[in-house]
Amino acid sequence: MRIDLSGKRVLVTGGSRGIGSALCRAFSEAGARVAVHYGRSREAAENLASDIGGGAMTFGAPLDEIAATEKLFDDVLEAFGGLDVLVNNAGVAVESPISKDVLAYAADWDYTMAVNLRASGLLSRRAIQAFRQNDPTGGRMIHIASRAAFRGDTEDLVAYAASKGGIVSMSRTIARAYGREKIVSFVIAPGWVRTDMAEEGIELYGEEFLTKDNALEGMALPEDVAPMVLLLASGLADHATGTSIDINSGSYVR
Ligand SMILES: NC(=O)c1ccc[n+]([C@@H]2O[C@H](COP(=O)([O-])OP(=O)(O)OC[C@H]3O[C@@H](n4cnc5c(N)ncnc54)[C@H](OP(=O)(O)O)[C@@H]3O)[C@@H](O)[C@H]2O)c1
Repeated sequence: MRIDLSGKRVLVTGGSRGIGSALCRAFSEAGARVAVHYGRSREAAENLASDIGGGAMTFGAPLDEIAATEKLFDDVLEAFGGLDVLVNNAGVAVESPISKDVLAYAADWDYTMAVNLRASGLLSRRAIQAFRQNDPTGGRMIHIASRAAFRGDTEDLVAYAASKGGIVSMSRTIARAYGREKIVSFVIAPGWVRTDMAEEGIELYGEEFLTKDNALEGMALPEDVAPMVLLLASGLADHATGTSIDINSGSYVR
């Protein structure tokens, strides 16, 4: 079995860093043309796009803003002439202790939900519409949630875990609602993966604490997430639509 994504047009949100960056690289190596989205890390995104080549282009958009999120999709459609795969990967983990005053606490919830959940919903909506133009091949979406969706998270990441739980419900609904149109939807639920987000966790809790539940030695790397995402994007696993796949080093086995 060989995963060949030649001719496929892929949008990866949060492609500038971490897991998203590894996904962009892997998609490109498999022959896909990649839209590398970034929020603030424009230079990193541009360096990545020029490095991976294959017609990769960068697209900036703050995903907490509705109009910018819409424009991101418009820009990708205009540049690529359509879309075959959406990867909702961009995300934030805002540490928000309950000791905060209610307005600050609510602001953390709003920002977390806007970036992690609402933007994914808005982009999925546009992707469904775009995938309908791809008859008969349809389209595939993969949402990067978290182990937190299933096992919960630490005391200061209540909103983060809730946003990731929402991603799972969203993906299941899309999978069930649009399957007849050859539109499929999957969730990847990582445990700790060594990225900037994980570095923040390491600073707060220490690496030993973060990896103590792992069955495997050490912390996963972004490259460890990519092969499963490519398989799901390839069409070889379409009958698994609606599923959520754990990549958590055996730290939480459901
Ligand atoms: N690393 C882990 O241990 C882990 C575990 C479970 C789940 N996940 C999930 O995996 C996904 C990727 O995480 P990561 O570890 O690779 O994170 P990361 O290294 O912190 O990178 C986050 C990415 O999201 C983008 N982003 C964040 N806020 C944004 C905003 N407001 N507007 C636009 N883009 C924004 C960033 O873009 P810019 O830098 O360009 O702003 C960056 O590309 C996230 O959904 C995360 O929740 C990660």
